[in-house]
Amino acid sequence: MSAATQRLIQAAIDASKSAYAPYSNFHVGAALLLDNGQIVTGSNLENASYGMTLCAETVAIAKANSDGQLRAIREIAVAGGLAGHVGAAAEPITPCGRCRQIIKEVADLTDTDIPVHCAHAGGYETFTLSELLPHGFGPANLK
Ligand code: THU
Repeated sequence: MSAATQRLIQAAIDASKSAYAPYSNFHVGAALLLDNGQIVTGSNLENASYGMTLCAETVAIAKANSDGQLRAIREIAVAGGLAGHVGAAAEPITPCGRCRQIIKEVADLTDTDIPVHCAHAGGYETFTLSELLPHGFGPANLK
């Protein structure tokens, strides 16, 4: 376990504390490592119209983009769990399908198979975006 990745995981766990998830009670934090070493975080934002929920990863990526940093994203950490138990599940919490697609845009833009560090009780497991979303649809398919 690298100290830098551990720090990114901790940033995701800390970010989950701002989750607004009164419907699922499932709190998620995401932390993006930028090429300049900065960390951008996000947490999930639910809505009474359930399907409008925004996931932590998508919130973090939109934050980075609105700061002009979409192309600076290099690594992502995700931590989720019921309130008070974030990062404590036996199995790693991995990004949902929609988030994988959002991350693919970053991977293609940066030509980087972005590592996604997913927290679990013992630490974290790292998956690359292509492992999470094999044969994905991306910008190159629009040509
Ligand atoms: N959630 C995320 O924030 N990221 C994921 O990748 C998985 C799911 C959120 C959405 C919803 O607020 C809650 O977790 C339960 O699905």
